[in-house]
Amino acid sequence: ALQLTLAVIKPDAVAHPLISEALHQTILENNFVIVRRKDLVWRRQDSERFYAEHSERFFYQRLVEFMSSGPMRAYILAKEDAILQWRDLMGPTKVFRARYTSPACIRARFGLTDTRNTTHGSDSPESARREISFFFPDFSVEQWMEKE
Ligand code: CMP
Repeated sequence: ALQLTLAVIKPDAVAHPLISEALHQTILENNFVIVRRKDLVWRRQDSERFYAEHSERFFYQRLVEFMSSGPMRAYILAKEDAILQWRDLMGPTKVFRARYTSPACIRARFGLTDTRNTTHGSDSPESARREISFFFPDFSVEQWMEKE
């Protein structure tokens, strides 16, 4: 079915013009429709709120720090099966595993560390809805779906 997903180009990737351009091209080449796009910088509390589910994990502080360290680029992407399609392009969360198991994926090509892993993508329709409204509070998934 046609789905929306939230794709985020994280601060490590936005910082490098060639990498953010390559990721934009990857989105286009894979026939995603770019529904919305926005550049933004998180305050520390945005980062803490978005990743609250990880607050007990050992990497939480470094994750929060990193995600509020500089500009990000967020996309709402539409495609058949968009959520899984984008996650497949990103590859595994852990960059070193990604390089070993799927060297062509985004994180294997551009990721720096398990935290600074270039991109985020929603993992379910429920999280896509939550994350889209977190990044794009004025966007209504229901309204967009009705128009399509
Ligand atoms: P993301 O897909 O945005 O979801 C949670 C983030 O936490 C993840 O990408 C990484 O940036 C970070 N992360 C997940 N696991 C680890 C880990 N083992 N070590 C460091 N950072 C991690």
